[in-house]
Amino acid sequence: MKVFLTGANGFIGSTIIPELIHAGHQVLGLTRSDAGAISLTSAGAQVHRGSLEDLNSLRDGASQSDAVIHCAYDTDLSNPEETSRKEAQAIKLWVPSSRVRIVP
Ligand SMILES: NC(=O)c1ccc[n+]([C@@H]2O[C@H](COP(=O)([O-])OP(=O)(O)OC[C@H]3O[C@@H](n4cnc5c(N)ncnc54)[C@H](OP(=O)(O)O)[C@@H]3O)[C@@H](O)[C@H]2O)c1
Repeated sequence: MKVFLTGANGFIGSTIIPELIHAGHQVLGLTRSDAGAISLTSAGAQVHRGSLEDLNSLRDGASQSDAVIHCAYDTDLSNPEETSRKEAQAIKLWVPSSRVRIVP
């Protein structure tokens, strides 16, 4: 299976990569930066450039994959409502809207 992993370089995401690869899966990891791309390649993942703000990049990553694991997390908590809105918007691309509830 090919898994689109957002937040692939994060604390949680970076531990998921070896688990998936060890289980025989391919990982398509989302990152915003060149440094992130280098790190993903070193970890054995394929690189998908994009962000939570770029919905086309999220659609594209998911459409190339069999599953999505969402671990991207914007740590800028100066505007938590906007952070939640962005995250919900991303999740709604992957699951039916009726099943998404925003809990601030
Ligand atoms: N850490 C914990 O102990 C813990 C425990 C329970 C739940 N969680 C949850 O697990 C999730 C991940 O947490 P974490 O600790 O792994 O976070 P983290 O280490 O801060 O990593 C967040 C990742 O999200 C990506 N990211 C940040 N802003 C983004 C944006 N605007 N668009 C796309 N990607 C973005 C970053 O990737 P790039 O910089 O490569 O783009 C980064 O690798 C969060 O939802 C968190 O609440 C964490």
